[in-house]
Amino acid sequence: MVNASASNAYDLAKQAAEVVVKKFAGTHDVLAVLGSGWAHAASVLEATDEIGVTEIPGFIKPSAIGHGGSLKSVAVGKSRVLLLTGRTHLYEGHGVNAVVHAVRTAAFAGCKTVVLTNAAGCLREDWGVGATALISDHINLTGFSPLTGADAPAPLHGRFVDLTDAYSSRLRTIAKSVDPTLREGVYMGFHGPHFETPAEIRAARVWGADLVGMSTVMETIAARHMGLEVLALSLATNLAAGISGEKLSGDEVLAIGKASATRVGGLLADILKKIDLEKN
Ligand code: HPA
Repeated sequence: MVNASASNAYDLAKQAAEVVVKKFAGTHDVLAVLGSGWAHAASVLEATDEIGVTEIPGFIKPSAIGHGGSLKSVAVGKSRVLLLTGRTHLYEGHGVNAVVHAVRTAAFAGCKTVVLTNAAGCLREDWGVGATALISDHINLTGFSPLTGADAPAPLHGRFVDLTDAYSSRLRTIAKSVDPTLREGVYMGFHGPHFETPAEIRAARVWGADLVGMSTVMETIAARHMGLEVLALSLATNLAAGISGEKLSGDEVLAIGKASATRVGGLLADILKKIDLEKN
């Protein structure tokens, strides 16, 4: 069960990794997680093979609209990339281990890098809707940590993981060399699934947030815990609550995601190619 104790969560991820390594005949280098609005990357990057997530131990088919349910294997230059077409969110109620299961599985399946993408509310009117931004740091307002519970089994680190430079400056530099117009900002992670109130957004601004969303922070913490380098990208699908005076809706998030699909999908593909080149 996905909600089992922490050490079982690692065992489950190891089992999942065995299935993935067997299915795709070997290990991978990079995990890329496609959030809302980023799914088009899957059609830009041609998969050599794919598996439905429900065939992998511990994975749950995402219930959020716009999130797919497969894991693909893609060759990008000399790198092998696992492409997860949709993620599990905290608000789906399966527990924090389910949210980070793909990251742990990828780490056990050889990945050293994770690229996380998401849709986010934007606090920066000057960036505007449709902006793409690199996450430079996060503020975890979910009240959760994937490291709650017993210490991870050896040889993994204990629970006190350093999150200085959680979002790799090396990878951000590579991403900016692909698209110098990429913004950079702090992402505040909320539990959701409700949108924030205008008062929460005013507080988020005072605390230093540029973007708000309901994903990514758990995955980043779990990835750093397992020694992976993290790059995270947000697509600003709306101005955050109370900024424009307009009501927020999930449909708007999806519509902007759809309208930006080709651009951000291509961007992600180009970034993955550049990460591969820098590796060699
Ligand atoms: N808030 C939280 N998550 C989001 C938003 C938002 O405004 N837009 C897209 N994901």
